[in-house]
Amino acid sequence: MHIAVVGTGYVGLVTGTCFAETGNQVTCVDIDANKVARMQAGEIPIFEPGLDLLFERNTRQNRLHFTTDLQSAVDKAEIIFLALPTPPGEGGAADLRYILGVADDLSRMIKRYTVIVDKSTVPVGTSEKVHAALARHLSEDLFDVVSNPEFLREGLAVDDFMKPDRVVIGTSSDRAKKAMQHLYQPFVRQGNPIIFMDERSAEMTKYAANSYLAARITFMNEIANLCERVGANVDMVRIGMGTDTRIGKRFLFPGVGYGGSCFPKDVQALAITAEEFDYDFAMLKTVMGVNERQKGVLVDKIRTYYQGDLSGKTIAVWGLAFKPNTDDIREAPALAIIDRLLEEGVRIQAYDPEAMENVRQSYGDRITLTETAYDALDGADALAIITEWSAFRSPDFDELRSRMKETVIFDGRNVFDLDEIGQEVQYYDSIGRHVMKNSSRSDQ
Ligand SMILES: NC(=O)c1ccc[n+]([C@@H]2O[C@H](COP(=O)([O-])OP(=O)(O)OC[C@H]3O[C@@H](n4cnc5c(N)ncnc54)[C@H](O)[C@@H]3O)[C@@H](O)[C@H]2O)c1
Repeated sequence: MHIAVVGTGYVGLVTGTCFAETGNQVTCVDIDANKVARMQAGEIPIFEPGLDLLFERNTRQNRLHFTTDLQSAVDKAEIIFLALPTPPGEGGAADLRYILGVADDLSRMIKRYTVIVDKSTVPVGTSEKVHAALARHLSEDLFDVVSNPEFLREGLAVDDFMKPDRVVIGTSSDRAKKAMQHLYQPFVRQGNPIIFMDERSAEMTKYAANSYLAARITFMNEIANLCERVGANVDMVRIGMGTDTRIGKRFLFPGVGYGGSCFPKDVQALAITAEEFDYDFAMLKTVMGVNERQKGVLVDKIRTYYQGDLSGKTIAVWGLAFKPNTDDIREAPALAIIDRLLEEGVRIQAYDPEAMENVRQSYGDRITLTETAYDALDGADALAIITEWSAFRSPDFDELRSRMKETVIFDGRNVFDLDEIGQEVQYYDSIGRHVMKNSSRSDQ
């Protein structure tokens, strides 16, 4: 099939590349001319494991193309995916300006029957708005609008797209349904379902899934905070409860709050949808409040350790991306934590395997970004671990001890085993577990 994907970010580029991988002719469109030029030159503008192989193969085999010219992509396309940003607008609701703007453009460009698929995360009722925007200049028998929310996770996006747990498709048109079924068939050969439903339910499914996951993390963060107070170990509690098949093991890891480009804005957007429909979604409000508070937990621990005075301290930060295996720093808890530490007069020396360039653009010289994880430790009073990159899990502790002023670690992701770390450093405080103090290491 001939496909156009409008918006070539984390979702659009993965979507386009994976559809090319299954033999389709794909044109990816973006308004960012610089980004398009880089992709035309064979460069991938984001970090996403495994994407390079597919990108290279499909551009080489002439199935994957990039352009800023929407009309040329539309002329060929049987299906057009909208993978455009839906950031929080004024008041926090999803801003539909990008989606409706492109829908308006399409209404003047489409000349034969085309399926318009909304892949962005959008509030209930958006497909009707997109339909209305298209119908302004286009006969209704020349298009159908489908809601096809995307569930991929950054860092695992290629795998998630190639082997999805399920594909959700919201449409009331048989013609569009057939086209979507045909397109997605190669991705569900192992028997995972393509679930057809109405447009509103599809739109709601995405928000329900993300809000539930955010709530699950938030619940565990509350359990962890309570574990600290009652002297329990959240690691054991997590395993003890997660092995119940009704609960399941995934998404039970406590930390310094959820972040990223999706959970915060999607939880907020769903809360606003509830308000618009006069429903008091009390739980969502609590989730948002608790998550904000959780971003302060590590700073509180650091402040308490230094008896309220952080000025002049140097703190090394390991991990800036909102989670491992991505360079994405949108709404990353690390940034909230760094901002608070800077306000209290701390000097920050930070390292992340992939997110440094993005952080440099927003922080300039307000923090020091180092070449390696160990360089961040030079002369540091303490280390704060904020993103659980695998590379941080087994450091060379001799090196760490030789670089830091004192071996004091605040771990926002429970990266280390308590007994082992207790042997290695002077002071170790994590989330929902006992504080480890090692007096034999104090005199280094
Ligand atoms: N990132 C994720 O993990 C993820 C997962 C599932 C769903 N989503 C949803 O998918 C949507 C896209 O997210 P993303 O992370 O890929 O966004 P992104 O910001 O990475 O990418 C959006 C792209 O759209 C381009 N763009 C903006 N206006 C345009 C226009 N008029 N024409 C062409 N291109 C235009 C931008 O230049 C950018 O390259 C959002 O609704 C998001 O909530 C994201």
